[in-house]
Amino acid sequence: MKVLLINGSPNEQGCTNRALTEVAEALHREGVETEIFHIGNRPVWGCNGCNACVKLGRCVHDDDPANSLMERMKEADGIVIGSPVYYSGVNGALCAILDRVFYACGSQLTGKPAAAVVSARRSGTTAAFQRLNQYFAIKEMPVVTSQYWNNVHGYTAEDVEKDAEGLSDHAYPCEKHGVDAEADRSGENRGTPVPGGRGTALYGLHPLISRTIDPQKT
Ligand SMILES: Cc1cc2nc3c(=O)[nH]c(=O)nc-3n(C[C@H](O)[C@H](O)[C@H](O)COP(=O)(O)O)c2cc1C
Repeated sequence: MKVLLINGSPNEQGCTNRALTEVAEALHREGVETEIFHIGNRPVWGCNGCNACVKLGRCVHDDDPANSLMERMKEADGIVIGSPVYYSGVNGALCAILDRVFYACGSQLTGKPAAAVVSARRSGTTAAFQRLNQYFAIKEMPVVTSQYWNNVHGYTAEDVEKDAEGLSDHAYPCEKHGVDAEADRSGENRGTPVPGGRGTALYGLHPLISRTIDPQKT
């Protein structure tokens, strides 16, 4: 069982990557294999609208990551796409790649559970989150949700590290389930299963992803 995590930021070690590694670590604890695919910072093509991919099954532009990303997405059992928030939206380079991948792949992603994760310094997360979910919705991909709209806040990965609410459970479900909220805020409880399996933000994603892939999992 393998989940592909796509880092749509040009910064390989930035905030989006930090959010994705949190999801990856949680998935590892569930016995799920992961791979992070970085789109990088090289120029990418936008969709030409030539429709050649409908026959070819791949994009005519082979000199950027779109086709290799599409092959990895087809092989994966689940997909998590992460993006930095640029002007309240998804990074343009990531959108350019995803437009081509989702158009060229036909129905080959249908049925794969998918989740979106976004990172912003301050605002615009919900618009970007919504945009990423549109790709999943049109391909009949079950959208894995959590108890918040999956986002972290920061300008650097170190800032995100301090965003305990974004990365981990936050006080509400901990207090509700009798878990020490202070320890949770400090990150001490990160990775500790919360009674009832509840969690918020990114932490809540991993059991849902693995259960959507494999309903036998408890
Ligand atoms: C071109 C550009 C536009 C941005 N627009 C926003 C924005 O609309 N809202 C916001 O909160 N942060 C914005 N930011 C900040 C990034 O979203 C934020 O620093 C993000 O966490 C960076 O993630 P990364 O380190 O993975 O690249 C912008 C950054 C850039 C470079």
